[in-house]
This record gives sequence, structure tokens and C-alpha cells, in this order.
Amino acid sequence: MLQGSIPQDILTRLKELREQINYHNYRYYVLDEPVVADVEFDRLLQELTRLEEQYPELVTPDSPTQRVGAAPLEKFETVRHRQPMISLENAFNEGEAREFDERLKRFLRSSEDFHYVMEPKMDGTAIELVYERGRFTVGSTRGDGSRGENVTQNLKTIHTIPLQVLSREEPAPALLEVRGEVYMDLEEFKKLNEQRLAQGEPAFANPRNAAAGSLRQLDPTITAARPLKIYCYGIGEVQGKSFATHWEVLQTLKTWGFRVNPLIERGVGIEAAIAYHHRLEHQRHGLPYEIDGMVLKVDSLALQERLGAKARSPRWALAYKFAATQETTRVLDIVVNVGRTGAVTPMAVMEPVEVGGVTVSRATLHNEDEVARKDVRLGDWVLIQRAGDVIPEVVKVITERRTGAEAPFQMPKVCPVCGTPLVRPEGEKVTRCPNPDCFGSQTRAIMHFAGKSAMDIDGLGEKRVIQLVNAALVRDFGDLYYLTVGDFIPLIADKSKSTKGASNIINAIEKSKKQPFWRLINALGIRYVGEATAQVLAQHFQSLEDMMQASKEELLQVEGVGEQVAASIREYFDNPQNQEIIRKLREAGVQERPPEPRAAGPLAGKSFVFTGGLPNLSREEAKAMVTSRGGKVSSSVSAKTDYLVVGADPGSKFAKAKELGVEPLDEAAFEELLRRS
Ligand code: IVH
Repeated sequence: MLQGSIPQDILTRLKELREQINYHNYRYYVLDEPVVADVEFDRLLQELTRLEEQYPELVTPDSPTQRVGAAPLEKFETVRHRQPMISLENAFNEGEAREFDERLKRFLRSSEDFHYVMEPKMDGTAIELVYERGRFTVGSTRGDGSRGENVTQNLKTIHTIPLQVLSREEPAPALLEVRGEVYMDLEEFKKLNEQRLAQGEPAFANPRNAAAGSLRQLDPTITAARPLKIYCYGIGEVQGKSFATHWEVLQTLKTWGFRVNPLIERGVGIEAAIAYHHRLEHQRHGLPYEIDGMVLKVDSLALQERLGAKARSPRWALAYKFAATQETTRVLDIVVNVGRTGAVTPMAVMEPVEVGGVTVSRATLHNEDEVARKDVRLGDWVLIQRAGDVIPEVVKVITERRTGAEAPFQMPKVCPVCGTPLVRPEGEKVTRCPNPDCFGSQTRAIMHFAGKSAMDIDGLGEKRVIQLVNAALVRDFGDLYYLTVGDFIPLIADKSKSTKGASNIINAIEKSKKQPFWRLINALGIRYVGEATAQVLAQHFQSLEDMMQASKEELLQVEGVGEQVAASIREYFDNPQNQEIIRKLREAGVQERPPEPRAAGPLAGKSFVFTGGLPNLSREEAKAMVTSRGGKVSSSVSAKTDYLVVGADPGSKFAKAKELGVEPLDEAAFEELLRRS
């Protein structure tokens, strides 16, 4: 070993740095309670990176510098699980849950109530993490239960997975296998899908598929860019530590630095579990992630041992699922809705049915092609499903129940709201009402503008907007800023509250003029531009004017903006009617600049592009160094690029920059430029 020639103080410092970084990582990602500022953390990580560069032989696979994403693999290796990863038996109602409890009592010939641990059942993908002498060595998917795929490099990119067992309170055992569920928060899932659609990639059907798909990427840098998280819920084989209860296992996992769901509880008897199930079902829709039920586990490990397992599931645990999110019902009618961009969407009107605790009577059929593909007809029996909080959709037709009286659907030729002939451009799936004065699209566009994720104007819900459009007080959202208290008073039914109510709405409209820039961009209702895209656009452009002037090529330089989005933005701003709306907003004093203009700064007006990995700085840090000095970062080289910062293995950008005469900088020159600025 070379370590003999390395000064002791370096070895000590390396160890210290890794411990400190791991600990801060745990405080930040697992506990969400950081104890140092980000810059301090970055300094530690930078010091470690420099030392490891100086002494590459000391880089270990569990060093915190190794999270960034290793080189792509050809294929995944197979990993054999020391103990099989079996599944859970399901219960779908209270009766089945009670039966489970009675069965256990019969099995053990006992009448005593069990102590149970109750946990949310995460809807993600199961994984196993192996730690040898406290170090994360192998991580794998469940696979067929006995063999999974080696996804170690991908799991390392998930910050909530410790690379080393924390051993401040409890020493790490010689061998530790931890099991848990990798998942994606709903909000992040929505953003990811939005980005994918914008880049012409197919959307993931649900967060579970998104998590599983992200984890099974051969290129770990792709996984690193996906917002995955983990909750750990159990152990496999452990050597060097024993436990008496499952509760103790979970508590110890926490002290070792693993993320355990804070909603876990302990209780005695099946009634406690049923009560927990009720509580969880109520909490469910407020949670940031999807769960599909609870898991109930016998707490005593000695009893677990006695109970043992059946072929595919342990006897001591039960997945007690929530009411089905799929149901069957009949299609009474198929109507079409006119959306904010004029998109005409077919919707099934159904016999009301309860799905996952909510009564629904409408389901989206997406577009004409989807209706044809699923062959949904009036009078059909259909299977519908709700995924999370989205509008239910028709999964399939139950053709066995057809009588022959069902009537096929025909997309209307004219807009059901304004009577204008509908258009469907070649190659597009969406049918539209082209009339900018269509009442349907007008009201939707204004509702979107005033909505929670846009200008967030209190008091401007669907009812008010319809009244305003009906009374010809507004034609588009630009008109909102010219309304007066007097306009609203007649619209408010309760006369005793009309003056107050009217001035509240006017105040809310006034207040919205100061909303952050990204909200304004989102509010415009540009096709394919949702919250996530609006945020990157707001980072990139200084004002609406700036964005309106940008060519398609410039728009394509914004990270996350693809062909379709760029074309749609151009189309929006090229439309004279939209230009008129924006003029109205501007004249009314709607703020269209970020709160703190970043244009001021030594790098104002300078545009940077990065290519290849830099030796010392992470891409994020380097970018932040530019933007905090007022400069811009683009993803591709153009005539407007001032500097190309070149790291290891530069790509085609380097050649393009040379061609255009853009000045290339290496990391040292880049840092020098920043220092001088
Ligand atoms: S315990 C032998 N606990 O559900 C016990 N599983 O249907 C193994 N799951 O593959 C699992 N949340 O991926 C357990 N709190 C939880 C869970 C959980 C989600 C998943 C897990 C497993 C599947 C079984």
C-alpha cells in the first residue's frame, strides 16, 4: 500500500473531512436540519476534492466526492440477495385486516394482542443497500426476489443514502443490509414529466415508474439528475448487532443515518392498525409523495421468527391497501371541453362512482386519437383510474359488456362554445378552436392567469371569470388590470358584502402586479411552458421584452428548452393579439423583471458556455459563480457566446467555439477572470 509514503496529517485530515461532510450531508438531506451554511459545506467538499486530486490513490468508493455519477455501464451485473426480498400479502378492507390478525393468533395459539409497527406503504421501487464495515459497497434492485440488478453507482447519486454508516451513537456492524423504497415526490415527478414532454420525450405514467426507470439507467449521471429519495423500512442480514423489535431496528437505522418515514407508529392490537389506516387515508392527499396503503408488521422479532414465511410473503406482515383507485362505470356521454389554449379535449361523462374515496363523474379521454385507440363509445362500460390528484382517466373499455347499442364518438366539426370550425394541424394530436374570442378558451386562459401557480389572484375563480367575460368586462387577462371596484359590485350576489368583496378583488389584482417574473411567464399560458420551464426562462431573461426579442436559436440555448417549446414561445410572441395583451399588462404596471435584477455585476452582458468536467469546481458551482456576478450561462455555443469554459473531454462545443472565434478558458483562466472581475 502506498499509504506509507503519505504524511500522517494528510491521512488524518482526509478522514476528518469525509466524516464532517457525511455528517453535514445527513443533517441536510436526511434530517433537513443543516448546522452549517452551504458555503461552509462547499468549502469542505472542495478541500477534500483537492486533497484527493493530490493523492488519487486515497480516493475510496465511499468518499463523498463519488456521488456525482460514474461512467456509464454496458449492462447491469446480477446481485444475489443473501436473504430473499419477498413480497407482502395484501388486504383490501377491514375484514381482511382482522382476518390476518386472527390467523396469526391461531398460528401462535395465543389470544394476546400483538404489538404492531405501522408504516406508510411507499409507492416506489424496492432496493437493498449492503454496508461492509460501515461502508456502502453494493446496492441492488429487488429483481425476482433472489437476484436483482447491481445499481450501486446509481444509488450513490441519491443524497439521502449514506455512503458510510454514521457511528456516533451506535457503532456500525460488520455487515448491514438495509432495505427501503426509492421514490420521487409528486411535485418533482410533475416537473420531470413537463421537462420530458418539452424535450419531445414520453412522460412517465406515474411516480413509481419514474423512480424505477430513473434507477435503472446505465448512465449514472442521468440518475444523478433525477430527484430520487429513499425511505428505509427494514433490514436483511446483519452481522455484529442484534435487535429485539422491528421498532428498535427502525430507530437504530435512524441513528445510523438512514432516512426513516416520520409517520411510522407503534400500537397494540388490530384496532390500532385500523385506526392508523383511517388517519393515513385522510393524510394521504396532503403528502408530498404517493402511498398506496399501510404496512403492518409484528414488532417482536422473536415472534416474526416463529411466524416465518410462506412461499412469497412473510406471515408477520401485511400490506393493508387503500380503497381501489380503479373502478368500473358507464359512459353516459362524451363531451368536449375547450381549454385555455383553445385545445378541445374529449371527456367522458359517467355514472358517478367512488374511486379512492372521491366521487367522480368525468374522466379525460385526452384527444381524438386516444378515443379511437381505446375505442370508447357512448354507453360503454369502462375501467377508470385516478392517479394521485389528477383527473381520472379511462383505462380501457370492458368490451365483454357491450350490447351493440353503443354509439361511436365523433369529434365535433365546430367549437361547442363559439361555433367556429375546429382545426387540427397535420402531425398534431390536438384539435383546437382557432377563435381568439372563443368564450371557452377566454375564460380558461383568464382562470389560468389568475390561478395558484400563476399570478395567484384571490377571489378570481371560475364563477367570477365567467361573469366578467359574459358581461364583456374583460376579453383577455390584460383587461383585468383595468377593472374597477364599480365593475365588480354588481357581480357580487350578497349586497351587504359587495363593496368590501369588490375592493378585496381589486386589491388582489393590484398586488399580483408584483408577482415574481416566473409566475408572469407561466401565467401567459404559452403552450408547453409550465411552472418548471417558466422558472428557467425567468432565470435566463431579464424581462418579457428580452424574451420576446429572443430568436428560436437563442431560446434553444436555455437549459431545458427544446425545439417544441422554443417554437411555441416564438409563435406566442409573434401573434399580434398576444403582443396587444402584453402591451396592456405593461401599461398597467405589471412588473416584468425579476425582483433583484442580476444585470448589475461585473459580468453583466457576458455569456458563458461550459463543456467537459472541470477539475475543481462542480458545474453547479461554476455556473453560480457566473450568474452571481451578473453573467449568463447558456447550454450551446453561438455568435453571442463570450467565453467557453473547457474541462476534461470537451465535446463538439469546443470545435464550434473555435470556428466562431469564442475565447476558450480552462478552469484556472476562468477563476482568474472572476478574480479580476
Ligand atoms: S416491508 C418482508 N415496508 O411494498 C417485508 N415494504 O408489496 C418486505 N413497500 O417490495 C417489505 N413501503 O417495495 C415494507 N413500509 C414498507 C413498505 C414496503 C413500500 C413495498 C416494498 C415491497 C412491496 C411489497
